[in-house]
Amino acid sequence: MIKVIKVKDYDEISAKAFEVMHELISEKPDAVLGLATGSSPIGLYKLMIKDHKENGTSYKDVRTYNLDEYIGLDRNHPESYYSFMHRNLFDELDIPEENIHIPSNVGDIYENCDDYNRMLDEANIDLQILGIGSNGHIGFNEPGTSFDSVTHIVDLKESTIKDNARFFDNDISKVPTQAITMGISNVMSAKKILLVASGENKASAIQATVMGPVTENVPASVLQNHPDVIIIVDEEAAGSLWKQKR
Ligand code: F6R
Repeated sequence: MIKVIKVKDYDEISAKAFEVMHELISEKPDAVLGLATGSSPIGLYKLMIKDHKENGTSYKDVRTYNLDEYIGLDRNHPESYYSFMHRNLFDELDIPEENIHIPSNVGDIYENCDDYNRMLDEANIDLQILGIGSNGHIGFNEPGTSFDSVTHIVDLKESTIKDNARFFDNDISKVPTQAITMGISNVMSAKKILLVASGENKASAIQATVMGPVTENVPASVLQNHPDVIIIVDEEAAGSLWKQKR
């Protein structure tokens, strides 16, 4: 079941998302988190860091599993998801490095996918944080991905490469064309899922996710089949949903 929470702007999205995160960490200090990169969760991560620094909330027993990683970028490249996560979250919290898991793009990537699936099978993610692509992707599961998919290698769609060019000097040729991603079935195994979306370029994907048919053409629409999903959107991402249901 999807619960949609509509708020005014990005800051309010982050504050609401932090409430959900904080409740979990308070109740279960050894929670298992599924984490996302991209612009959407950065505000949430900032609030987690602020709370850790100001109130001493500890993440020392938390384990994390990231959704995805580009293929073909060294992990020390500033736009690798390894770098992104350390810069925007891990370097500022007290999560032990051995509790942090990000798909590895080094060596035999097919083997890395199998290893990641084995880890996820044992992990039992309590809370999976998601953003959503303007085409409805979750993780890097692009439209057409099977709902049964597990961690796999993907060719990124042109729309995703264009969306992500902003992190690569707006130069499409610098954006990696492949990634390793958790599959949709891995995402759906989480006990609770929290998706955050901001801005009008997400409105049609959100509309299709919440109101449309459940179809592999809109990967996020699978969330309608999950028992516990919260989607937090701002006015712009809510688009016509905002007008209909406010
Ligand atoms: C990131 C990820 C992607 C993003 C999505 C939205 O780990 O898996 O699915 O969540 O592309 O990106 P932003 O938040 O930058 O709009």
